[in-house]
Amino acid sequence: MKIAFGSDHAGFEDPGPHYKPELIQFIASLGHEVLDCGPQLGESVDYPDYGRKVAEAIKDGAAERGVLLCGTGIGISIAANRYPEVRAAVCVNEDMARLSREHNDANIIALGKRLLSLEECKNLIKIWLETPFSGVDRHQRRVDKLC
Ligand code: RB5
Repeated sequence: MKIAFGSDHAGFEDPGPHYKPELIQFIASLGHEVLDCGPQLGESVDYPDYGRKVAEAIKDGAAERGVLLCGTGIGISIAANRYPEVRAAVCVNEDMARLSREHNDANIIALGKRLLSLEECKNLIKIWLETPFSGVDRHQRRVDKLC
């Protein structure tokens, strides 16, 4: 799959490891193509700008799914969810990662660098990428009502 990745400066927060490059490399190692939506450095940036870039990649069809990272995952997911094409889910545990796919057909996962270890982020991303939407009628009906 083509996966758009965006963060704010939390993706480069010291002390390392810096989550953004590590997570991009991890997603690529799973066999996906990563569209890097920035930023490229750790200087302070505004999370809405990068939430929008990933949302627009989904909207334009440049990517099928997206991964967002900020301090909590909250601000950047709020920005992305302003697009009707986006269903961005903040996930802090395995059930949320799985259910956001099975029930909500989430097309973006939003993670909090200040809440989760790097290994936890990798685990949630892997579960989320590998879990299909259930396709069950009641879930499809509810997803349809989100637009
Ligand atoms: C930036 O300091 C922080 O506010 C941001 O990364 C995010 O947590 C906002 O929701």
